Amino acid sequence: MGSAGESGWVVSLSLAAKAGELSADPSRLLALAVVVAVCWLTTLLLHWAFPGGPAWGRYWWSRRRSWGIGGVIPGPRGLPVVGSMGLMSGLAHRKLAAAADAIPGARRLMALSLGDTRVVVTCDPVVARDILNCSEFADRPAKESAYGLMFHRAIGFAPYGAYWRTLRRTAATHLFSPKQISAFGLHRAEIAAQMVRALNGLPSQPVQVRKIVKRASLNHVMWFVFGKKYGLEQETEESKELRSLVEEGYELLGKLNWSDHLPFLAGLDLQRVRSGCNGIVRRVERFVTRIIAEHRVGHRRAAEAATGDFVDVLLSLQGSDRLSDADMVAVLWEMIFRGTDTVAVLIEWVLARLVMHGEVQARLQAELDAVVGRNGAVTGPEAIPALPYLQAVIKETLRMHPPGPLLSWARLATSDAIVSGGHSVPAGTTAMVNMWAIARDPAVWPDPLRFDPDRFIGPGGHAAEFPVMGSDLRLAPFGSGRRSCPGKGLAMATVELWVAALAHEFEWRAPSDDAAEGGDVDLSEVLRLSCEMAAPLTVRLRRRRRGLA
Ligand code: HEM
Repeated sequence: MGSAGESGWVVSLSLAAKAGELSADPSRLLALAVVVAVCWLTTLLLHWAFPGGPAWGRYWWSRRRSWGIGGVIPGPRGLPVVGSMGLMSGLAHRKLAAAADAIPGARRLMALSLGDTRVVVTCDPVVARDILNCSEFADRPAKESAYGLMFHRAIGFAPYGAYWRTLRRTAATHLFSPKQISAFGLHRAEIAAQMVRALNGLPSQPVQVRKIVKRASLNHVMWFVFGKKYGLEQETEESKELRSLVEEGYELLGKLNWSDHLPFLAGLDLQRVRSGCNGIVRRVERFVTRIIAEHRVGHRRAAEAATGDFVDVLLSLQGSDRLSDADMVAVLWEMIFRGTDTVAVLIEWVLARLVMHGEVQARLQAELDAVVGRNGAVTGPEAIPALPYLQAVIKETLRMHPPGPLLSWARLATSDAIVSGGHSVPAGTTAMVNMWAIARDPAVWPDPLRFDPDRFIGPGGHAAEFPVMGSDLRLAPFGSGRRSCPGKGLAMATVELWVAALAHEFEWRAPSDDAAEGGDVDLSEVLRLSCEMAAPLTVRLRRRRRGLA
């Protein structure tokens, strides 16, 4: 039984070998072709009929493995050959959650096939912990666009090993250390003030905030990583070029690339992913190499003054930690790429929720008035620890709208692993966590569809002990374990400060007075690498305090 799939092929191949002898007789040749086609179809169907679809069927028939104590992982078959590719297009997090709900036991762990790729997805916090925290899943699956955009030489897609460890350690020590993040607080506040001025100066209402927040976020990362300061009001050619590189890269990396999963398409570049990546990479190399060269000139000076940004740090690495120029370009480009959109996407969701829930906005503003004063300004990060409701609003937004609903980048099993429940996940399987589904599961969160920041407020109005940095898998929007997001501290510090400033300076209202409160906010989503609002948030703003510059 176990070899049925293989023996089908053996029969057809041996029959094909006879074809030469039979070529003299067309009717026998036709009969042979029919037999071969039937064998081929039978093999396809045998593979496809297996729970999880063709890639899982092929694996089990060829390995003749036992199914482990947990038995076969349940999952949709999808279509022969391509499997469940359809589930990964559009709003994949919603489609995967619906598919898991339809099959008993599949929320815990669901198998599916993306062409030749075996995939497991979990909507369960216990299994999510196993996947994200165990060393068997510390790698990332190969993705043509990630390689094409050089991310295999940066932290995100570097194979788990010595090189990746060096990069993580260097970034953790010199870029994302709490000391570094807090030292940058005043710069963050300066960008917040620029944002407030830009919004205040917009000539007409209603306004869209996305462009300003995205530009602010890019300027922030450029300053933090490259030590380069851009103004928000006028966009320079340099920042325009960088913004378009990030946007185009996002488009390519977020695309479901069929040739990642169907090797017979690999040579064709049907979706133009490879050519798109080549074009971007040439521009990125030009851009980042120029910045590195500028730093080389000033590097000795920075070293002597014991100051310097992340480029200076990378230039100063010695011995086995030393990076080639090409590696440095990849690492720096990844920081810009990952640090820009995620933060802006989250801030837009928070503001949308403030517009929708007037009572939440009023309570947040009352908290800000009490801490910084009605006519005071949020001028730095010192106020943040005294603002538990602000933190609760951001956590609740992360719960309902995680920027990476499937945690953006999947994991790869490097050896066979057993996860809770006893299911065996074979080496080479791609593993995903549906954080969006976990955060909306009524068994995990009471009344999960209600936006209620009070979930994160404890007795006496203090912040409840609920970390979102990866130790509690009921809400881990930054992932968990050794490959969790290294930029999470920076991201939270930025979002907290900017939302505090924006909520303190303006009242945020829906564009139309006639609409029922919040009725104007369109919460439709679009999922690329991050999940953002499909229709940019449009608002009317009213200044709240006197003395706004
Ligand atoms: C709201 C903002 C952000 C969110 C929601 C977010 C989310 C994530 C998630 C879910 C992962 C995958 C984690 C895993 O596999 O367990 C990740 C990885 C990563 N993130 Fe973030 N991120 C954010 C901001 C940032 C920032 C500001 C930076 C850097 C400037 C950054 C850099 C990275 C990098 C380099 C990785 C790859 C880590 C590795 O593979 O070792 N992220 N992020």
